[in-house]
Amino acid sequence: MYRARITGVGHYTPPNVVKNSDLEKLMDTSDEWIRERTGILERRFVSDDEHNSDMALKATNIALERAGKKPEDIDFIVYATLSPDYFFPGSGCILQNDLEIPGVGALDIRTQCTGFVYGLSIADQFIKTGMYKTILVVGSEVQSRGIDLTTKGRDIAVIFGDGAGAAIVERSEDDNRGILTTQLHADGRYVKELWNEDPGSRKMPRLSHEMIDEDDSIYPYMNGRYVFKHAVSKFPAVIFEALETAGVDKSELDLVIPHQANMRITEAVRQRLDMPEEKVFSNIQKYGNTTAASIPIAMSEAFEQGLIKDNSLVCLAAFGSGFTWASALIRW
Ligand code: COA
Repeated sequence: MYRARITGVGHYTPPNVVKNSDLEKLMDTSDEWIRERTGILERRFVSDDEHNSDMALKATNIALERAGKKPEDIDFIVYATLSPDYFFPGSGCILQNDLEIPGVGALDIRTQCTGFVYGLSIADQFIKTGMYKTILVVGSEVQSRGIDLTTKGRDIAVIFGDGAGAAIVERSEDDNRGILTTQLHADGRYVKELWNEDPGSRKMPRLSHEMIDEDDSIYPYMNGRYVFKHAVSKFPAVIFEALETAGVDKSELDLVIPHQANMRITEAVRQRLDMPEEKVFSNIQKYGNTTAASIPIAMSEAFEQGLIKDNSLVCLAAFGSGFTWASALIRW
């Protein structure tokens, strides 16, 4: 069995900064409420001519450069998103075309906030078995076009933002470094606690005027308190599960990168892990919750800030809609 290593990370966020004070103009909310409840100060929204796969391409190009690779080195694409360019086909195919690598397999996955960690696990398995040598894993989201930016949708609208992150995962000859373990979980009993009901194939037609004008079902629904309660227990559990599986002590961790869901969730997780602030990465202040993009964006920024170096032991952990939760333990 081979070992899989992340050899390059990159991210892109749109230049359009939306501050809490900008949202105050669209809905009944306040900078104070948003800061206190979520820790978010601002987020990025795409401009009219910018799309999910465009951001993914920009993040990918940076990741490729840092890995010293070219698009034609990529054997396979795993693309995590809940906000693809089109209903179908998947955004992985669009990115593959933009990268000009026809024929290369492209797989879209939809596990929402855990999408990137699930994607990393898929890449890890394909590399371990020898099927592929170099895999591109992307997380990219355009949340701003799917949320209700009025008072009715304010609980969700203030939390989410747009952006993309990418990682190049390669076969490694070094048995001591790379992805040590991944843990993947889901519990479908909670599907409706954080979901976007329409448009979907359960209804005929799958998109109607009623859905848009009366039901609000085209917008996400979140049972915030319920999500919070589950998140603060699942994050530490899945991190400890990874440590135990890999036979590594918590004290050896250099950095934990949690999915940037909410500052209060990250703080509660940090306390449960009993870790110092500098070892738990946070950039939600700048970007809000970018769902599948949040971990690769955070990973790329941590790399740029010198918080991830050769041999760093890094744990990624995520929780979100599904419910799904997952972790990856990586010796960089
Ligand atoms: N601005 C101002 N007021 C708002 C608001 C906003 N953006 N959103 C909700 N409110 C109001 C509510 O209407 C409610 O008013 P009421 O008391 O008059 O009914 C009040 O604030 C409290 O709402 P509540 O939902 O009880 O707040 P909360 O303390 O649970 O905080 C969240 C809400 C969403 C911040 C919190 O539940 C949370 O962080 N949940 C986890 C969300 C998350 O991380 N999701 C992503 C997971 S991947």
